Amino acid sequence: MATTTMNKDSRIYVAGHRGLVGSAIWRHLESEGYTNLVGATSSELDLRDRSAVFDFLHEQRPDVVIDAAARVGGIHANDTFSADFLSDNLLIQVNVMDAANSVDVDRLLFLGSSCIYPKFAEQPIKESSLLTGELEPTNDAYAIAKIAGIMQVQAARKQYGRHWISAMPTNLYGPGDNFHPENSHVLPALMRRLHEAARDGAESVTIWGTGTPRREFLYVDDLARASLFLLENYDDPQTINVGVGEDLSIRELAETIATTVGFEGDILLDTTKPDGTPRKLLDVSRLNDLGWSAQTSLDEGIKTTYDWYLDHESSVRAK
Ligand SMILES: NC(=O)c1ccc[n+]([C@@H]2O[C@H](COP(=O)([O-])OP(=O)(O)OC[C@H]3O[C@@H](n4cnc5c(N)ncnc54)[C@H](OP(=O)(O)O)[C@@H]3O)[C@@H](O)[C@H]2O)c1
Repeated sequence: MATTTMNKDSRIYVAGHRGLVGSAIWRHLESEGYTNLVGATSSELDLRDRSAVFDFLHEQRPDVVIDAAARVGGIHANDTFSADFLSDNLLIQVNVMDAANSVDVDRLLFLGSSCIYPKFAEQPIKESSLLTGELEPTNDAYAIAKIAGIMQVQAARKQYGRHWISAMPTNLYGPGDNFHPENSHVLPALMRRLHEAARDGAESVTIWGTGTPRREFLYVDDLARASLFLLENYDDPQTINVGVGEDLSIRELAETIATTVGFEGDILLDTTKPDGTPRKLLDVSRLNDLGWSAQTSLDEGIKTTYDWYLDHESSVRAK
């Protein structure tokens, strides 16, 4: 699986470099000695603005593009703002990829997400499950946008001979996450709520759904390592799963976080709220076969994330 070479001087544009994923990728690239990194915040460059994106790429002329910019959120945000999730994500990725193609970027990594596989995909989910069944209705708009992004990578390879790739990360968490109590993803949302409950001496915390859906969680620094590994070692039209290969129930997750944050009250279930996909575990055998596997255990990752949360409590992202 030969790839075009990346070297430490390669000019690398990380779209979304202040987000959970983008900031971890940026940190990892720096720690690996990559010195020629380019980034722009959404207020400096709105990636929905096509001509601004073209101007930026023509000015910066990156060798490599990592697209970690997206409008992202949990079930509640996806379900409530589905038109924005569809439209913003299509605009961002089409603009970034078209502009990258126009300046002959040969190496590009686009990030999909495990939530875009069919709702009832056979578990653990293989890459070949994509587009084989109906989507989870609470995030179908987001999924359709992301699937279009994966298709654009494949089409650019076919039509223009680009060495572009896409990866399919499982649920991520870590320093820099969005800790909004409702709009964020399940792990940071639970961490915040259980932390506040412990602090306030609350007797119970109620979580959405039955607590039985099973999920897999990858520490974001592991995804950053995988992203660089793939850019250095993977060159194939098929997307590739990035995960840990193990899952746990939402209830078990809540209990693990409760232990970490010191919450000793009851965890109650609001079964009137939707559960989402019943199980979501990625088959990571293709990535493992290339020689990569995750390093951070869930306990260790949750502790590190909680330490980071405590250090940044007054300034964490929560929108
Ligand atoms: N989080 C997960 O669990 C997860 C799981 C699987 C896949 N992924 C994928 O990973 C990627 C990044 O997700 P994330 O969790 O890192 O999200 P995030 O923390 O919300 O970061 C998203 C980034 O996108 C940028 N962005 C959003 N809209 C923009 C716009 N209109 N113009 C310019 N920049 C814009 C934001 O820039 P500013 O900060 O400058 O506003 C932000 O840095 C997404 O493609 C997502 O699908 C995430």
